[in-house]
Amino acid sequence: MREQVDLHKAINAVSDVVQNRPRPLRVFDQIHMKTADMVVQSEIVADWADGKRLAFIGDGDAVSVCVAYLRAREVLSFGPSKITVFDFDERTVNAVKRFADKERLEHLDAELYNCLDAFPDRNKYDCFYTNPPWGASNNGESVNVFMERGFDAVHYEGDGMVVIADDDELAWPKRVLANVQAFGSQRGFYVSRMQRKLHEYHLDDAPDLRSCNLFVSALPGNSAKRSPSIAASQERLTNFYGNSKDPKVKYVKERKRPDYGMAPDDEYELVMLEDGK
Ligand SMILES: C[S@@+](CC[C@H](N)C(=O)[O-])C[C@H]1O[C@@H](n2cnc3c(N)ncnc32)[C@H](O)[C@@H]1O
Repeated sequence: MREQVDLHKAINAVSDVVQNRPRPLRVFDQIHMKTADMVVQSEIVADWADGKRLAFIGDGDAVSVCVAYLRAREVLSFGPSKITVFDFDERTVNAVKRFADKERLEHLDAELYNCLDAFPDRNKYDCFYTNPPWGASNNGESVNVFMERGFDAVHYEGDGMVVIADDDELAWPKRVLANVQAFGSQRGFYVSRMQRKLHEYHLDDAPDLRSCNLFVSALPGNSAKRSPSIAASQERLTNFYGNSKDPKVKYVKERKRPDYGMAPDDEYELVMLEDGK
């Protein structure tokens, strides 16, 4: 039984992280999770991955940072032993690194990586987390590409948490859920748990659309299914980020070192007081 979380401290810590989050690029399906859901989600992830090596396959939300920071701030007394974020957006990678440096979160790191490429050769992680593009226009193939990178990260032996759309009124999230579960099953992963309709997003065209946590676990002896990681084939990339939005970008590079908590100076102008008044 875990101790009760001090909500006040937890929300303030997550608020520090949200201040540090680069603004989302909708064209790559970056849509941020709402703050209260970030608090709850971070506690779930910290509990699930307690003492383990955790890889994030993309993390614009910054759940990774919350998980590490909540423990450092002693809001949580449990959490992963190591966290690495793999993301193609250098703004996200640098924001994680800068925050980790400032707060001395030594077990938190990030790498620039595009999940269309083969996964880099790294020591085995125990579990992975991904909140990928939700695959509304390709029956979840984008989710499968991200999830496969998670399988690569855990060397086909371990657990994963996949955060994807969950809605009773719409047809596409059901198709995606079915296809993702079938894809996982072909690779020796079964659904070990599902927490339904848990999170809301800053999504202006579908504010009520929620996501679930779909937990997958490897079957015993599943490392036999592991083969060298390869780049995603072209036919898997149609409508990757939505209808007619195939991937064309290798990396999003950071232009200058921004302070995400401050308004940039091209956002406003000053009308001065008249002299002497
Ligand atoms: C696609 S968004 C999904 C929505 C999620 N709520 C978020 O904003 O993080 C998840 C993350 O995947 C990253 N991403 C998108 N395309 C990627 C790619 N080809 N390779 C690696 N990361 C990618 C984005 O930069 C983002 O951080």
